[in-house]
Amino acid sequence: MNLTSEISLRRFTTMDLEKVMEINKTCLPENYNTYFFLEIFKNCPEGFFVAEANSIIIGYIMCRLESGFSDFSRIKPVRKGHVVSIAINPNYRRTGIARALMLSAMSSLTSYGSSEAFCEVRVTNEPALALYKKLGFSIRKRISRYYYDGEDAFLMARPLLS
Ligand code: ACO
Ligand code: ZN
Repeated sequence: MNLTSEISLRRFTTMDLEKVMEINKTCLPENYNTYFFLEIFKNCPEGFFVAEANSIIIGYIMCRLESGFSDFSRIKPVRKGHVVSIAINPNYRRTGIARALMLSAMSSLTSYGSSEAFCEVRVTNEPALALYKKLGFSIRKRISRYYYDGEDAFLMARPLLS
C-alpha cells in the first residue's frame, strides 16, 4: 500500500455501486446483482459505508436490519443488525480499515435500535474470524453447508450497547 494514502470513510451512495460490486467480485465468492445491493441500501442506508484511499474506493461494508430470536437468549425476540458483506482491496489490508468500517456500521445499527449484530463467516476464513473476534463477536453456532460450495459457516454475534 502507498503509505501516503489518505484513508477516509463515508456513507455509500448509488454512484458507488459499480466500484463496490467490483471489490465484492475480486474479494469474495459470494457475489450479488445490482438489485440485491440496492435493496440492502434501502433497508439500512446508514449501515452501508465505503472506505476511500485518495478518493478511490478500496472497501465497503453493508448491513441489513432484521428481527428474530436473540443469538444470546433463547426466548427473546430482538432487532438485529446483519453484517451482510465486508471486503477490503488486498493492497490495503491489515491497516485497520475493516475494523473502522465495522465500528461505523455497528454504531449505525445501534442507532437503528438493534441490540445485537451478527454475520456468517466461512469456517476457514481466518482473517475475518480474527477480525470479528477482536471486535467482540463470538461463535454462536455452526451452520452446515451454508455456502454454495458446501463449506460450513460460523454464525458470529455480539450484543450492541445502546
Ligand atoms: N490474519 C489474522 N488476523 C487478521 C487478518 C489476517 N489476515 N486480517 C485481519 N485480522 C484481524 C487482526 O486482529 C486485525 O488487527 P491487527 O492488524 O491489529 O492484528 C483486525 O482483524 C483488524 O484488521 P483490519 O486491518 O481492520 O482488517 P482488513 O482491513 O485487512 O480487512 C477483511 C479484513 C475484511 C477480512 C479482509 O481480509 C478481506 O477483505 N477479506 C476478503 C473478504 C472477506 O473475507 N470478507 C469477510 C467475509 S464474511 C462477511 O462478509 C460477513
Ligand atoms: Zn449473512
